[in-house]
This record gives sequence, C-alpha cells and structure tokens, in this order.
Amino acid sequence: RLNIKKITTGSKSLDDLLGGGIETKTITEFYGEYGSGKTQICHQLSVNVQLPPERGGLSGKAVYVDTEGTFRWERIEAMARGLGLEPDQVMDNIFYMRAYNSDHQVSIIDDLFTFVPKNDVRLVVVDSVTSHFRAEFPGREHLAERQQKLNAHLHQLMRLAEAFNIAVVVTNQVMARPDVFYGDPTTAVGGHVLAHTPGVRVQLRRSKGNKRIARVVDAPHLPEGEAVFVITEEGIRD
Ligand code: GTP
Ligand code: MG
Repeated sequence: RLNIKKITTGSKSLDDLLGGGIETKTITEFYGEYGSGKTQICHQLSVNVQLPPERGGLSGKAVYVDTEGTFRWERIEAMARGLGLEPDQVMDNIFYMRAYNSDHQVSIIDDLFTFVPKNDVRLVVVDSVTSHFRAEFPGREHLAERQQKLNAHLHQLMRLAEAFNIAVVVTNQVMARPDVFYGDPTTAVGGHVLAHTPGVRVQLRRSKGNKRIARVVDAPHLPEGEAVFVITEEGIRD
C-alpha cells in the first residue's frame, strides 16, 4: 500500500466510507440498479481528479471509456462550474473514448498502457464494464465464456492501475429485483463483477428524491456502514 493516493467523490460521507476517497493502484466498482448514480459518480471523479491535492484531487487527467453512450459534456461543464473551475480546461483534460464492442473495449485498455504515462492520466473510468460482454455472451449458456473474458479484462485493468499508480473506476448495472435470481452472478443483486479480482466494491441504491445510499461490500480494511449522498445540478454532494 505504498504511495496510494485518493480522489474525493465530492461527498464527505462517501469519502469517509471509502477511507478518504477513491484509491489509486486498485479498481473501484460501483454497482447498482439503473439511476443509482454510477454514471454521475464517474463524471464527478473525472472532474475531481483534476483538482490539486489540497482539494482532494491528483492534479491529473482522466480517460473516460464509455460503452453505453451516456457520457455528457454538459454534465462535466456544470460540475466544473460547481467547483469554480474553468469548464473548457476541465473538458480538455478528459480523454473521451467510445467502446463499440467488447473487443474494442479490451483494445482501448491495451493502448492505455502507452497512452496513460504519456498524458498525465491519473484516472481511468469504464462505464459500464459489463454491458458489451452481457450483450455479446448472453444467458446462462455463455456464462462461463463471459466470465472468463470479463475476468481477463478486469485483470488487465488491475495491471494498468498498479503499473502507473492510477485509479480505475468501473460500473456494473445490476437488477433492481432482490427477489429474483437470474442465474447470473454478475446481474443478481449483490452480484458485483469483481468477485475474482482484488478491488473495492461499492453498492449504490436509490433513496428518496436525489438521495442515494452507498455501501462498501467485502472490504475488511474499510469501516462497515452506509453513506448517504445527493446528486445535485452541480454534481455529487453530501
Ligand atoms: P444506469 O446507467 O441506467 O444503470 O444508471 P446509473 O447508475 O448510471 O445512473 P446515473 O448516474 O445516470 O443517475 C441518473 C440520476 O442522476 C438521475 O435519475 C438524476 O437523479 C441524476 N442526474 C442526472 N443528470 C442530472 C442533472 O443534470 N442534474 C441533476 N440535478 N441530476 C441529474
Ligand atoms: Mg449509467
């Protein structure tokens, strides 16, 4: 755990739950149902990584790998303004990459082993890490193949995080119905995708209005409990 750095989420309560923020040299997975705030947290971290250390950032740049087409520059602008940063400069420091299928997603990450060290990148986001793999290897009959490919991809991301002391953040949508088991450990509630990879797993749930609840799962080094945060016009806050 030498030289590990942290990036603030924008919420003190969520930072405390994570032991100070999102860590470098590891993968952090945000998983939860639709609308639980996974993509908003990814946007916020892409802005916050650019803050100086005294404000909870790493004075670094972000790579945003978007697999679902849900990235919005307007959200980045609003979040930058919310922190008193120059929006154009903040947008210049985010390298947006759209991944069109799972092979493309894997090849983008391969290329990052040369791109990251050349471009002051301190955060790589993959939103979502699972969607292409699920679409291309559907159902129980492809479960083993899907898991094998996903695990290889996650190990590739873990190596990237460790090699360059950067934070890697991935998202994973899970089903909203806790009473149904889909026969797929990565889509079931509680079925985070990092089962066979070291990393931090954060479950997100919707609450009333703009409130969201986060819980860290299977992390012996972090405190038990939950954090409440809100998604505002300006981004993630307490
Ligand atoms: P899926 O990708 O569908 O699984 O969901 P997700 O977990 O990525 O959810 P996302 O982060 O997209 O959260 C969507 C929620 O964020 C919305 O329901 C809104 O509550 C909030 N949100 C998104 N955009 C804005 C915005 O511009 N302003 C405000 N105030 N809230 C927003
Ligand atoms: Mg999303």
